[in-house]
Amino acid sequence: MQSELFSIPKKQDTKHFLADNTCILPGFICDNATEIRDLLEDILLLSPPRYMNTPGGQRMSVALSSCGTLGWISDAKGYRYSSYDPDTHQPRPNMPPLFSSLAIKAAAEAGFRDFRPDACLINCYIPGSKMSLHQDKDEQDLTQPIVSVSLGLPAEFLWGGFIRGDAKQTLLLQHGDVLVWGGDDRLRFHGIKPLKPGWHPITGDCRINLTFRKAGG
Ligand code: SIN
Ligand code: FE2
Repeated sequence: MQSELFSIPKKQDTKHFLADNTCILPGFICDNATEIRDLLEDILLLSPPRYMNTPGGQRMSVALSSCGTLGWISDAKGYRYSSYDPDTHQPRPNMPPLFSSLAIKAAAEAGFRDFRPDACLINCYIPGSKMSLHQDKDEQDLTQPIVSVSLGLPAEFLWGGFIRGDAKQTLLLQHGDVLVWGGDDRLRFHGIKPLKPGWHPITGDCRINLTFRKAGG
């Protein structure tokens, strides 16, 4: 069952808890968005976004890259993290200090004070791209939260429960928003509905999502 799209009265410098350990920080990185975008351009030149296949052989709808010590990959062998880019065979681009400091600050704002991100997944959505309902469970330390940053076109985010079929909320994630989830909410199912076409001054016709994680032990 899915509820109507709800838009939280989002005012910058406020926070809103969707659940005990799930917090949205509206517009948290708006002031840094241009700098983040410029840093991303350099990262994506070194490690271009690519459409990976699921272990079942299906092409993913979202193009993905990573920076930091670890990056996420998916292929016939499964979902996992690796320190090397499987296409370029190079270590991942460094995570810029601005990225890690903002992620640590957002996590603390949401109540997670010892966040140590070692991976930043970069999801590139074009109109029509979606992310099916899933749990983030490839990380070794599930006591560390996920910090998700939205840039560019708005997206409808599905926020569910601990079983795939549980009721879901639909939350509009807008440019600059940061969503943090962890603790008891760490393994909730979530996904992104197909991106609607549009134009954003920072990202053009796409949406970029960064998720910061502590992937290694
Ligand atoms: C994710 O679930 O890993 C990404 C979600 C998003 O694009 O907002
Ligand atoms: Fe996820």
